[in-house]
Amino acid sequence: MLLTPHDRLFVLTGAGISAESGLATFRGSGGLWDGHRVEEVATPEAWEINPALVWRFYSQRRRDALDARPNAAHFALAQIEQRLMQESGNFYLCTQNVDDLHERAGSHRLHHMHGSLFESRCVRCEQPFPDRAFHEDADCLPRCGICGSHVRPHIVWFGEMPLDMDAIYRELNLATVLLVVGTSGSVYPAAGLVHLARARNIRTVYVGPEEPQNADAFSEIVLGPATQVLPSLFS
Ligand code: OAD
Ligand code: ZN
Repeated sequence: MLLTPHDRLFVLTGAGISAESGLATFRGSGGLWDGHRVEEVATPEAWEINPALVWRFYSQRRRDALDARPNAAHFALAQIEQRLMQESGNFYLCTQNVDDLHERAGSHRLHHMHGSLFESRCVRCEQPFPDRAFHEDADCLPRCGICGSHVRPHIVWFGEMPLDMDAIYRELNLATVLLVVGTSGSVYPAAGLVHLARARNIRTVYVGPEEPQNADAFSEIVLGPATQVLPSLFS
């Protein structure tokens, strides 16, 4: 995929880019965790009913992410970012993933639209802060040091708005190429970004082992695992 100095690349990644690092995707794994559908533990309703269960789920995901390492696809995106930032500054990476494998691979112009696994926030003060702890003791769930309210994962749950959509739309409006990697195209508004890009007539490329649900909206589809496709995609 040749990029000219006038191109501006917007990359959107999903769970598939971390699959080869050993982190389960949402829909591929059957979506089950300890007998629960992910939708049952990743919602404001689940938090209201059973915060201890929700914290157990995210503590386990913190463990999984800590055990995982970035793969060749994460590194390839960090490399293209480094190249484009030197040449033109025309790069933006938006991920639906809450793991930190992009930053550990060296990505900097990165936005976590669905939140970050290693941040938490007080339900009242709302300011996110770094948190790498495992909150698995139901009798000792974390509380805010300032106001005493519950502390929740800094994650966008089903039914909540993704973070900073304004910045995402602004970046997409400037882009000349949209590259989407490893997402099933089934969760909106992320899946709708490709339709917006198409409406602007820009190049839209999908990389993954199977066609996403919104395949019709792409101008090019490169079938294959991200680690095999991305390292040579920009050469
Ligand atoms: P999904 O689990 O829906 O889709 C994962 C995609 O990755 C599938 O299309 C697979 O074909 C693809 N895939 C699998 N292995 C791959 C590989 N080696 N290389 C490239 N692609 C591969 O995950 P997402 O689309 O990311 O939201 O899910 C979107 C959102 O749904 C998540 O961010 C999460 C979830 O509910 C929230 O938590 C708000
Ligand atoms: Zn507070």
